[in-house]
Amino acid sequence: MVFVTETTKPTKPFLRVLAGETVSPPPMWLMRQAGRYLPEYRETREKAGGFLDLCYTPKLAVEVTLQPLRRYGFDAAILFSDILVLPHALGRNVAFKEGEGPVLNPIRDENDIDFLKMDGMEKTLAPVFETVRGIADNLPAETALIGFAGAPWTVATYMLEGGSSRDFTVAKDWMFSRPAAFGKLIDTLVEATTRYLITQIDNGAEAIQIFDSWAGVLPAAYFRQWVIGPIAEITRRIHAERPGIPVIGFPKGAGVLYEAFVKETGVDGVGIDSSVPVRWAATNLQPHCAVQGNLDPLLLVSGGAAMENAVREIREALENGPFIFNLGHGVVPQTSPDNVAALVKMVRKPL
Ligand code: CP3
Repeated sequence: MVFVTETTKPTKPFLRVLAGETVSPPPMWLMRQAGRYLPEYRETREKAGGFLDLCYTPKLAVEVTLQPLRRYGFDAAILFSDILVLPHALGRNVAFKEGEGPVLNPIRDENDIDFLKMDGMEKTLAPVFETVRGIADNLPAETALIGFAGAPWTVATYMLEGGSSRDFTVAKDWMFSRPAAFGKLIDTLVEATTRYLITQIDNGAEAIQIFDSWAGVLPAAYFRQWVIGPIAEITRRIHAERPGIPVIGFPKGAGVLYEAFVKETGVDGVGIDSSVPVRWAATNLQPHCAVQGNLDPLLLVSGGAAMENAVREIREALENGPFIFNLGHGVVPQTSPDNVAALVKMVRKPL
């Protein structure tokens, strides 16, 4: 159990920024900082067998969480897990096929939604909570621990499509032509996600990130209802039930709707994807909350002068307010670990 009250001032740089402070050079971490670009990850992954086995084996999940911290000394660790353990814990079949990505048994009708069960959730997710405790026990004093979940819309796309999707035909058809049933699925996910995140907090997570990877594919009115609405509700409940724990929202691809997102969800921080102009973010988002981002992950692959120029532009625009350096999306497998080391050196230098 962690005891944090509204009057406790955080000392870890990552948490200070989420409390509204400006810290320069900025704290940094990278989405997917634990992953296939690291040889030691590939080795541990091999030992675990399947990807879900890795997520559900606390000893190995703690190990891969800590691997990038040992190399790079990031300011935050993110729990090693996946957004799809939640539908799995609700009773759906989830498998990760080599080279194919996630495969789920798709929800076919409203009956499938009624059958989602929250009672077995805590039991299936017990190893994840044990992983959170294991990471918390092994973290350097200045490093913060981020817990996470997928946002209801993004998780719903996987549950309705049965996996990754290019155009979200099935999920959008539910949204547009069966709003009551779709709403029931989202409500279930809001409830399950809130409980899941609060239990992560009670086991040692000090901040929460909500990944809405497919927020950017919705018409504006639907974005307000199904991206902003559910994330606002989860954020409100975390703030009410675990005061002092900051929430970062990452509505990837939200474009100009980023502004409504930060004003209407009440998040403490917002992850911006690489398409967001950093000066626009400084003017329109940073007055409302901390900003996190947004180097293109492929600039980290290319490295060199292009990466250096982009890092400088991001820092110059955002470092006068609360800012956490990150990518605009996750580290990709072909990234050279040496380029990550070069990036860390650049961001750690005073501007
Ligand atoms: O280091 C970290 O960021 C923590 C771990 C983490 C993973 N997935 C590990 C993972 C986090 C935070 C996620 C979130 C996640 N998972 C998202 C949201 C962020 C984003 O990327 O948009 C989504 C959409 C998923 C669903 C998912 N998981 C897909 C589509 C895939 C297959 C594609 C791929 O990259 O392989 C995964 C698998 C996955 N999740 C891997 C990792 C390290 C690779 C699996 C492997 O080792 O073979």
